[in-house]
Amino acid sequence: MFAKEVYVRRRQTLLKKMREAGQNGLVLFVGNAEAPAQYKDNCYKWRQDSSWLYYFGLDEPLMAAVLDIDSGAETLFADDVDIDDIIWMGPQPSVRSKADAVGLEHTAPYGGVENAIALARKSGRPVHFLPPSRYYNTLKLAQLVPGGAPSEPLIKAVVSMRLIKEDIEIQAIDAACALGYEMHSVARDAIKIGIIEQEIVGKMEAVSLAKGWGVSFPTILTQHGETLHNHGHAATIEPGKLMVIDAGVESNEHYASDFTRTYPTIGRFTQKQREIYQIVCDCNNLAFSLTKPGITYREVHLAVARKMLEGLSALDLVKGDLDEMVAKGIAGLFQPHGLGHNMGLDVHDMEDLGENLVGYDPDQTRAKQLGLGSLRMARCLKPGHVITDEPGIYFIPALIEKFKKEGLGFDFVNYAKLEDYYDFGGIRLEDDVLVTETGARRLGPQRLPISPDDVEAAMAAAR
Ligand code: GLY
Ligand code: MN
Repeated sequence: MFAKEVYVRRRQTLLKKMREAGQNGLVLFVGNAEAPAQYKDNCYKWRQDSSWLYYFGLDEPLMAAVLDIDSGAETLFADDVDIDDIIWMGPQPSVRSKADAVGLEHTAPYGGVENAIALARKSGRPVHFLPPSRYYNTLKLAQLVPGGAPSEPLIKAVVSMRLIKEDIEIQAIDAACALGYEMHSVARDAIKIGIIEQEIVGKMEAVSLAKGWGVSFPTILTQHGETLHNHGHAATIEPGKLMVIDAGVESNEHYASDFTRTYPTIGRFTQKQREIYQIVCDCNNLAFSLTKPGITYREVHLAVARKMLEGLSALDLVKGDLDEMVAKGIAGLFQPHGLGHNMGLDVHDMEDLGENLVGYDPDQTRAKQLGLGSLRMARCLKPGHVITDEPGIYFIPALIEKFKKEGLGFDFVNYAKLEDYYDFGGIRLEDDVLVTETGARRLGPQRLPISPDDVEAAMAAAR
């Protein structure tokens, strides 16, 4: 948790933004509750709501808060533990002391939030709340504000704050990236022909648990990288394959990291693998070199698409005018996802608040094209944005066949040659990047080895 003043300042800024947007009434936050996995006392691992963490810092279940836009009054709704709780959980700090720790003046029992909201609604005051990310919060909000809808002014105010990371957050993300670096190094060193993928997952996730909260999303570790989010880990590691490892650590402060590297399972790339790998590596480097305030990440995505098509053209996998191919979305056949996303308290930061409100400026519309349409962060870059740079090339036989069947891209795509790549798999290379005043900085202690030579050298050193 940060110092009390951080949370006080953030809440004051939020209310000021709401007033400036011409809003009045109450802002209601509902923190998460424990979520039973099989039965009430056997729950999924506890994780607080990220916007709650941002404004209140209190990392415990069953809390709500009401902020009065008009008077500035703030109330925390939570219950003190009773003897039954103490038997199972041990002694706990009082609600009063928790409220003090984050500078909240008033406290009331958790159930009191119902009355507070009902009274406000009765007198016609608006109640603003964020889109809920969990079923419990959905139900609770439906009960508290029947017929209500999430408040766009509130979403916009929250997004405007959480998008620009404060210095203390950048330090926290750097620390999460240091853990991510360590986890990925352990994973790379553990790759061995004949073992089950799960063995590597166990070793790498041990780092996330020993030094942080755990992983920031379910680990992707697969020799079928062409399946973008492949969460199965049951396969035996075979020679000649490419292994995509896309994984991140969530720190104890709940900030995320998210790196991807792709390794040749035998420690050396084949010529064919190296050619495609180099294109992805060049795309990653190009994106970083273009990242600076004033450019939109949509422009960076499109520049990367062009670079990718240039590389694929040199291999005779596509042909034609590069700009025309970019405009027609041909790159989406090879990279059917966006270049990157925001990252912070969530690995895809604030996606629960709505991808377009988070990732798109008001004057931007989301494309429908394959690839570009999946771009989660398109905004004009500003200092303090933390984003991922994650180009990839994937050979997805079903997608290629679909394009072919539907007559798409016939002027540009060498479908005959692509058949040689049906068993290639996929490659993705991802770094986490901070937009600075003058350009960009990669987050973490150092960059994970990424050039083909450096990857081979790092793998050789572990063998
Ligand atoms: N690293 C997983 C993702 O960005 O979707
Ligand atoms: Mn990512």
